Amino acid sequence: MPRALAKPGRNRKVTAADIRQSLLAALDRFAGSRVLVIGDLMLDRYLTGDATRISPEAPIPVVLVEKEELLIGGAGNVALNIRSLGGEVVLIGRRGDDEAGRTLEERLRSEGIEACLFAQENYPTPLKTRILARGQQMLRVDRENRAPLTPGAVRGLLRKAGEQLPRCSAIVVSDYDKGLVCAEVMGGLRGLRAAGEKKIPLLVDPKPENFPLYKDVTALTPNLHESGACAKMPVSGPREIVAAGRAIMRECACPHLIITLGGQGMAVFVSGEEVSHIPTSARQVFDVTGAGDTVIAALALGAAASLPLITSCLLANYAAGLVVGKTGAAAASPGEIREAVALLPVPDIERWE
Ligand SMILES: Nc1ncnc2c1ncn2[C@@H]1O[C@H](COP(=O)(O)OP(=O)(O)OP(=O)(O)O)[C@@H](O)[C@H]1O
Ligand SMILES: [Mg+2]
Repeated sequence: MPRALAKPGRNRKVTAADIRQSLLAALDRFAGSRVLVIGDLMLDRYLTGDATRISPEAPIPVVLVEKEELLIGGAGNVALNIRSLGGEVVLIGRRGDDEAGRTLEERLRSEGIEACLFAQENYPTPLKTRILARGQQMLRVDRENRAPLTPGAVRGLLRKAGEQLPRCSAIVVSDYDKGLVCAEVMGGLRGLRAAGEKKIPLLVDPKPENFPLYKDVTALTPNLHESGACAKMPVSGPREIVAAGRAIMRECACPHLIITLGGQGMAVFVSGEEVSHIPTSARQVFDVTGAGDTVIAALALGAAASLPLITSCLLANYAAGLVVGKTGAAAASPGEIREAVALLPVPDIERWE
């Protein structure tokens, strides 16, 4: 049992009730913690209808659209998750100078998310359109380019980050490889953190292409595929996952690494020595979209509240387990997590060598 989880009196064994109590106390500390989120924003568009005909033009179904939904994605979804978990958030990103960008801005405003988006010409707001019929996804159409940030946008973004940082206790970089996370932005954040009185934790949801940019961050949260791609090794079982994780930690010099393992939960690395496996707490799985956003949102709130890493990971794992049971890129509330902590068995944390 991890030491950080519960402190019973001397000579008393740590019970499931002790662990639950300590998790609930930790969860209370999410409230009011403030996180700065910087990253790629996107708009998720869902067109839902019925498909009863085959097109006369090509052997493909025709979907008659009945409903259109536009949802905030990418770094915006991380911000929504932080807010849903009881935290406060400020979001910095970019959008295109286009209809999707204006819609994104409007959606964030109506959700009450404090956001500062830089509009860039010749950059289309990343838009993922999913066409669904009869409960099934028929096609996804993406519109995006990875245009680099203009030098003016880099300066503006870092200036804004500098203004916001004194009010925040953690930073999340949500990298969807749409061009925002670059050497200039990561270097600028490094400088801002070094200049602060206390080095504020920086957590990154990474993309394999950009691993060389993540030097000296506090924690990385790759999924299994991203870990294998970064470490350039196969990652199917615990031994390989441990080896890949240690290689990533050496490469990026980061003290914490959380590899999310989909239905297998997560592997938590502290300083490359201890590796703990937390099994998923999900009871039903409808839609795994955005579960990674939920994980980094909860971990950032845990870091902002100075919780021990394993405690934050357990809470993140409960939150993600709830989110995969909902449709779309959803979020979990403290009330739902409380209920899960109370009703589900305490996870069996295993040490991986
Ligand atoms: N199929 C599943 N069954 C149970 N739990 C799941 C499943 N998929 C994801 N989870 C939970 O969500 C967490 C994050 O999932 P995953 O490893 O798929 O992240 P991801 O690939 O970054 O997700 P995304 O990029 O879609 O947001 C896991 O650690 C686990 O707690
Ligand atoms: Mg992910």
